[in-house]
Amino acid sequence: EQINKGHYEHYMQKEIHEQPESLTTTMRGRLIRLGSNKSKSVLLGGLKDHLKTIRRSRRIVFIGCGTSYNAALAARPILEELSGVPVTMEIASDLLDREGPIYREDTAVFVSQSGETADTLLALQYALDNGALCVGITNTVGSAIARNTHCGVHINAGAEIGVASTKAYTSQIVVMVMLALAIGGDTLSNKAKREAIIDGLFDLPNKVREVLKLDQEMKDLAKLLIAEQSLLVFGRGYNYATAIEGALKVKEVALMHSEGILAGEMKHGPLALVDENLPIVVIATRDACFSKQQSVIQQLHARRGRLIVMCSKGDTVSVCPNESCRVIEVPQVEDCLQPVINVVPLQLLAYHLTVLRGFNVDQPRNLAKSVTTQ
Ligand code: G6P
Repeated sequence: EQINKGHYEHYMQKEIHEQPESLTTTMRGRLIRLGSNKSKSVLLGGLKDHLKTIRRSRRIVFIGCGTSYNAALAARPILEELSGVPVTMEIASDLLDREGPIYREDTAVFVSQSGETADTLLALQYALDNGALCVGITNTVGSAIARNTHCGVHINAGAEIGVASTKAYTSQIVVMVMLALAIGGDTLSNKAKREAIIDGLFDLPNKVREVLKLDQEMKDLAKLLIAEQSLLVFGRGYNYATAIEGALKVKEVALMHSEGILAGEMKHGPLALVDENLPIVVIATRDACFSKQQSVIQQLHARRGRLIVMCSKGDTVSVCPNESCRVIEVPQVEDCLQPVINVVPLQLLAYHLTVLRGFNVDQPRNLAKSVTTQ
């Protein structure tokens, strides 16, 4: 066991820190520069015979549980943008509870680290029965979901041992961004965007290496938050998923109540919770939602909110309303890849909070790595 952990104390810690390598493995052989003009493309072998059908589908439905669902949520905007196909989200158990409509003209994408989660598997059976094209995105070759879907993509993040998913999450996002590139046609209008994303993917492991340097800073923040009862995380757009995934990490391992909140919904309830005691993380890195997040920060500040703002490098002055506001500066990347960067400080925070609070990092109370019963 000790050997597998290398010089790390816990699997979760090791898996957080090996993300530059796991992301590299996920992308290996899948991003290509073609010909003398170096035009760039994506090759997902497991999908090549089905891309036409996926492009023609009436909608794409992402289905998963827990962190895998959150990863799909992070990739949804870029898939919509590049493919033009409507993308809807289903938590597997909820789809089954409602027996929600799934049609022959749908592409159902099943996202699962283990490939064995009972609810996701049952939802797969349901989608197959309804005639949808079923695509699997899993980290486990030969898993039930990999075997029973029509086609798919392996995440290739390497074995993940910690119950709380970390490196599989970032690799899942990268796979789904590549999926968006593969499905979205090579039109002239989106050429520049596609190339920027591919360049961003090539550079992503380096940027993750950079953001991992925040380890000590996140440990210091964890010390400050150690005795708190609750932590809110506000995000929107590409980083709504980051907010709910960050909150999920904090609650599942650090056993602290935490809630990810869509910042656009702030006035419809969450604002009532704001006072000078409750810590609030606001994700306000540069993208199309930046100015809206600046205004959210102002409004939280006006209600004396205790703010921790995550912003792009160099943006402290633009986001910080006063000196008591704490800042987490992260490297800026292409907007659809920013969730991969932004989740890392929150993973580190959850990890350090857990260790400082004396809880079991790798096997949190009452949770299992793979939930194979309903
Ligand atoms: C459990 C794990 C989570 C995981 C979820 C879905 O709850 O503790 O880390 O995200 O199952 O698992 P899957 O293997 O389908 O991604």
